[in-house]
Amino acid sequence: MRDDDRKKLEDELFNAKKLEAIGVLAGGIAHDFNNLLFVIMGNINMAQLKIEREHQAQRHLVEAEKACLRAKDLTQKFITFSSGGGPVKCRISMHELVSNVADLVLRSSMTAWEIKGAAELWDVEVDENQMRQVFTGLMENAGEAMSRGGLISISTENVEIDGTRAEGIDPGEGRYVKVSIADEGAGIPEENMPYIFDPYFSTKYRGSQKGMGFGLAIAHSVIKKHNGSIKVESVPHKGTTVSVFIPAAASKRGASASLRPHAASPRKRILVMEDEEMPRELIQTMLEHLGYEVDTALDGRQAVELYSESLDAGRNYDAVILDLAVKVGMDGKEAMHRIKYLNPKVRAIVSSGYSAAAIMTDYADCGFCDVLKKPYDLEALKIALDRALS
Ligand SMILES: Nc1ncnc2c1ncn2[C@@H]1O[C@H](COP(=O)(O)OP(=O)(O)OP(=O)(O)O)[C@@H](O)[C@H]1O
Ligand SMILES: [Mg+2]
Repeated sequence: MRDDDRKKLEDELFNAKKLEAIGVLAGGIAHDFNNLLFVIMGNINMAQLKIEREHQAQRHLVEAEKACLRAKDLTQKFITFSSGGGPVKCRISMHELVSNVADLVLRSSMTAWEIKGAAELWDVEVDENQMRQVFTGLMENAGEAMSRGGLISISTENVEIDGTRAEGIDPGEGRYVKVSIADEGAGIPEENMPYIFDPYFSTKYRGSQKGMGFGLAIAHSVIKKHNGSIKVESVPHKGTTVSVFIPAAASKRGASASLRPHAASPRKRILVMEDEEMPRELIQTMLEHLGYEVDTALDGRQAVELYSESLDAGRNYDAVILDLAVKVGMDGKEAMHRIKYLNPKVRAIVSSGYSAAAIMTDYADCGFCDVLKKPYDLEALKIALDRALS
């Protein structure tokens, strides 16, 4: 390997390690913050329902709710960037996804753009939402770099990297779908290159919509989580090309599950396990508002006990909501394992604010029928329960 190749690889490794460490920190903060946000949002929701529509305080609650939604977006960005946003994968065509995003992001801008694609592009297995975030960020960057006009060229192609070429090079050996976004914008000065993937690194005017320095941080983290690779090449005053490599999927396209909301059945019995007091009380209030009868447990052990007692008494719970992570005692996964043993037909939803655990993506493998990501609102809770009880 040439010396400058080695240096480049070392720099990439250092960068990856640094980003991983920031990711852990960001994920931790996002977790605690999310729990608090859940309580704030839920209580605003409940207060809105309790006072008359014309009440003077409604306006303040609406403003508070708007701010909560902005804060939720921000924590979501942190979670996607941190190790927390484990991908929920489905099989898709990258060309379709990228074209859709380009339509949305670039159509409204004044920038000229074109998209070219391989006729027989391999499918990929990716988290569609996360990938949308990635390409939205990359295309926004391309558009923002070309305030004086120019062309954005997007392409998708199949790339196979064989063992001999792959040695010590990222991406390694394998079949990839490569997406390139080339702009003719201002380019990135050499001295900024080591920082472009850092969260909060931005050379733009900082606002709540742009200039947070999150676009490339999220792209890097999501692509790494998909075992892919992202490269940025830039020539100042000429333009920038970002190339993303995503591992190609092996087998055939499968059918995806559809969302079928049903009306809630009143007075069904729900067992909730949540170790923190404020969220626990809030979930209980929300469920009672939806017309359910609710029992609560402080940890997994208590949830299993209550479930077992209810089975013995012939008053079984219609559904169970289990918090994934508890500070002490039995967690949601273990509790689910035991409850499933008592009743293999249990309808259970796993809830968590921090989706690091694989279970938040592979919930069905553990016997859960749905996931609720905190902070969730009344509507999301209703939909999840309607589905669980249908
Ligand atoms: N296509 C590009 N052309 C020129 N500079 C770029 C390009 N993409 C990224 N950059 C540089 O990298 C920085 C970081 O990009 P990133 O997308 O992470 O954050 P941002 O665009 O500044 O903020 P946000 O994406 O949160 O709105 C940018 O501020 C810019 O300096
Ligand atoms: Mg950006």
